Amino acid sequence: NLQSTVDKIVQSFDLPKSSIDALVKHFVELAELGLESQSDKGMPMIPTFVTSVPTGEEKGIFLAADLGGTNFRVCSVALNGDSTFDIQQKKWPIPPKLMVGTSEEFFSYLAEKVHEFLTYHMEDPFAKDGSDSEKTFFRMGFTFSFPVFQTDINRGKLIRWTKGFDIKDAVDKDICELFQHHLDVRNIPVHIAALVNDTVGTLMTRAYTSAHARAKPLIGAIFGTGTNGAYSEQIKSIPKFNKELYPKVADKNIMLINTEWGSFDNSLELLPNTKYDVEIDALTPNPGYHMFEKRVSGMFLGELLRLILVDLKSQNLIFKGVESTSKLTTPWSFDTSVSSHVEADETKDFSEIKSTIQKAIDMVPTEEECSQIKKVVHAIGKRSAYLSAVPLAGLIVRTKALDKFDQVDIGVDGSVVEFYPNFEKMIREALSLSDAVGEHESRIKIGVAKDGSGVGAALCALVA
Ligand code: BG6
Ligand code: GLC
Repeated sequence: NLQSTVDKIVQSFDLPKSSIDALVKHFVELAELGLESQSDKGMPMIPTFVTSVPTGEEKGIFLAADLGGTNFRVCSVALNGDSTFDIQQKKWPIPPKLMVGTSEEFFSYLAEKVHEFLTYHMEDPFAKDGSDSEKTFFRMGFTFSFPVFQTDINRGKLIRWTKGFDIKDAVDKDICELFQHHLDVRNIPVHIAALVNDTVGTLMTRAYTSAHARAKPLIGAIFGTGTNGAYSEQIKSIPKFNKELYPKVADKNIMLINTEWGSFDNSLELLPNTKYDVEIDALTPNPGYHMFEKRVSGMFLGELLRLILVDLKSQNLIFKGVESTSKLTTPWSFDTSVSSHVEADETKDFSEIKSTIQKAIDMVPTEEECSQIKKVVHAIGKRSAYLSAVPLAGLIVRTKALDKFDQVDIGVDGSVVEFYPNFEKMIREALSLSDAVGEHESRIKIGVAKDGSGVGAALCALVA
């Protein structure tokens, strides 16, 4: 019956302490492998060419363009030099058609939005109509939240798309060149000074805004449409990074690493793998990659729920006698807010769950079905949060942060950590369970760096 089938599903999503510990150990191994050499087995562990964190005294006005998981933002950021900033910004949802089109259309759209922002928000940006050498160019940091193999602070080739993007002709191309070309074509007086991953931006913002945080070892992490993290590494401990090839960083000691932990354990040695995980992977444009992300981040939590509902319906265990709607059978039709709303329901008659599911699929669950759906949603969310603790604990082990400092600071951003009920609390639960952190869980500070990437990009444009 429905209940026993759901109980089995819930059990298959359980992540016991022994699995957490084994995953943390595996994470450290694959992180170290990734620092040693570039291979498909280790994690990407990408050197970012950011060689210092802010002091809080940075000053100046910069532009930032921020391509995250769901939105494109253009901002003008004034760093006030006292750990505070002022920001003006405009945000547009990324049109789904452009996410799978050509790089020409895509970067042209981004350039058009930069133009629109400058026209409405900046004083006379196009006033000087002189030659290039006379023009005032705005320096811009570009937050590009995808894996890029960087060769300088504003140079880097796209390794692959993630999070449902699939603009094939952009792979292997220099992302800054593509974007700069379209800015130049439109005569927009902007120079891209830095290319920044959103996790790096988040870490930089956290350091700029909090004196307390910057005195501690820092991790910048995103739990949103995708998931990823950045941290600071000693350059001498990055064997694959040949300093001699890059004279600009020859005298530097540390470099931020963009781990791309979404690709942790792509070969599924230890990650849980239910039949729904297998189905999801097959639906994505990057099968076999970012396997950790596909169990954790917002893009996938709603889809996991949809696939489970489809499965229960096909066994005639729910929505009996009702025809499936196209909303139920269309991949990616649920976003994470469906799961968040179901999880948040505290009513006795499940009224919030009923209306959420009805809105999502035009089918109304019974009270019994609501209570089972709630169990499923919670199992998916809890597994996501427990898995999210793994890379955090892994980086803490790798950097020996708890041995050397009294606290570790984690700056976070993204729709899941911001909106999914109790997400941080569940991450903390898993950290407490783990051998790596255990009783030291309270020494880990987690702070939201809301929209941090824009400020972070500005900070990177400054240090560039
Ligand atoms: C935004 C940041 O706040 O969060 C982006 O500005 C980041 O850079 C994004 O990518 C992550 O969240 P989501 O939920 O949009 O993927
Ligand atoms: C995906 C991207 C990564 C980004 C993360 C969060 O995992 O590959 O670069 O940081 O999403 O947005």
